[in-house]
Amino acid sequence: MPPSSSPASPRLRVLSGIQPSGSLHLGNYFGSILPNLEMTGKADESFFFIADLQALTTVHDAAALRKAREDIILDHLACGFDPAKAVIFEQSKIPEHTELMWILSTVTPMGLLERAVSYKDKVTQGIAASVGLFTYPVLMAADILLYQTNVVPVGRDQKQHVEIARDIAVKFNNAYGEVFTVPEPQIRAEIAVVAGTDGRKMSKSYGNTIALFGEEKDIRKAIAGIKTDSKGMNDPKDPETCPIFQIHKLFLRKNEIDALAAEYRSGLSYADGKKRLLEAYMDFSGPLRKKRESISRSDAVQVLEEGNAKARLQAAQTLDQVKKAVGLL
Ligand code: ADP
Ligand code: TRP
Repeated sequence: MPPSSSPASPRLRVLSGIQPSGSLHLGNYFGSILPNLEMTGKADESFFFIADLQALTTVHDAAALRKAREDIILDHLACGFDPAKAVIFEQSKIPEHTELMWILSTVTPMGLLERAVSYKDKVTQGIAASVGLFTYPVLMAADILLYQTNVVPVGRDQKQHVEIARDIAVKFNNAYGEVFTVPEPQIRAEIAVVAGTDGRKMSKSYGNTIALFGEEKDIRKAIAGIKTDSKGMNDPKDPETCPIFQIHKLFLRKNEIDALAAEYRSGLSYADGKKRLLEAYMDFSGPLRKKRESISRSDAVQVLEEGNAKARLQAAQTLDQVKKAVGLL
């Protein structure tokens, strides 16, 4: 019986991962990093990893991947990920992920992957339709099941992948006995999608992002470029449809949000709105930036080495159970 599914010890073990596939933006921070930090605070045990093997499905430039891997760990440590509270590790350093992926792929029905919408979306966006891109939900299932995770906090876009991991766990357990904890996705319903500078979902694929750790001049440019309608300077504006307000409110408390909304309704100009948003961004990002500068590359390497060693112990234990169950040991 997997330890975390036992009714006698309903421990909350959470796991989540992020791809190192570009610079982090405000959508990643408010939609993923912040809720992950909150979950880490609530969980009994928490695992967080850099999904660098997955990044190979879209990044085919060694220097870019190396830089993204280095940056993403510094970014997360700066945001408050704490190795005392979570095991922080790298997917590619734990060979059990790919080994388990193979075993899981032999019980995964083709139809399960054929229904995955993220694959189709990515191919539509122009990403090469590789075998790796198609089968990566099985790698993600291995990521989750190796750690006997019971809760996986994810954004809506990843819900289907956690359901695939559930289905694979159930299939495996039915075929070979109770080896895996069956994970639940925890969808961050309360976190609305963060809008980008063009009003669509903020995403690096749309080029509409505001960076989390950007240079001031780039942030200034991104904010200046926020698309607004053609309302006159002193005209009343609807905060609900104003993209400047929609981003600005992320940095504010409830009473401040209400006050700013009232100002838009009584005619705050878009130019002034943008100026105020830049100030709010700088106030928000200043402490994060300072913290990031105080963390050295060698600190980050040490965090990962320790995390990799801890993760590997758990991963090896599960893989051993799997091998026994299927007859490889
Ligand atoms: P991108 O869309 O820029 O490629 P990713 O797919 O790498 O972003 O997202 C990493 C994490 O950040 C995911 O958990 C995703 O749900 C979250 N996320 C990304 N963009 C947004 C957004 N605009 N609003 C809320 N959450 C987001
Ligand atoms: N697929 C996720 C993404 O693209 C990242 C990821 C990989 C993940 N393995 C995971 C998230 C396991 C949660 C649990 O954002």
